[in-house]
Amino acid sequence: MKKYEIKSEVCVYQDDELSQEDRELVEAAKQATQQSYSPYSKFRVGAALRLADGTIATGSNQENASYPLGLCAERTAIFHAQHMHPEQPIQAIAIAAWANGHFYPEPISPCGACRQVMLEVEDRYKHPIRVLLYGMSGTHVVETVKDLLPFQFISESLKK
Ligand code: THU
Repeated sequence: MKKYEIKSEVCVYQDDELSQEDRELVEAAKQATQQSYSPYSKFRVGAALRLADGTIATGSNQENASYPLGLCAERTAIFHAQHMHPEQPIQAIAIAAWANGHFYPEPISPCGACRQVMLEVEDRYKHPIRVLLYGMSGTHVVETVKDLLPFQFISESLKK
């Protein structure tokens, strides 16, 4: 039997420790929560992307009376940005959640489906995406989606 460990590095920043660029992105994600259409969960999620040319693109979760048809904030933002700016790699994504009148104390972490979509974007542009998970207690940051999704399944995996 062989055993190995997979490690992820996460840095936790207070607001005043973030760079201006990162603070701006987190702020855009927080603002995006207010565009959420979430009458069923009442859980408002906002995502903000920084593209290589500096453009910030945002998205929020969009729900439906037929529950499974709704879409998370992350994928709403990513698919829209890739439609509008297909030539621009995504450099960073910030995610925030709001419910019951306040932002979440702990960072919200993207669901598995969104992690898989984010991974495809990294693979498409061969460029790591910095992920900033906002919580009132701090912003948790990983430098690549691979830190959130070990054992990746990417287009290359289909060729083996
Ligand atoms: N949601 C997101 O938008 N992003 C996540 O990372 C987790 C969950 C949404 C989906 C649904 O509209 C609501 O939050 C409750 O699950």
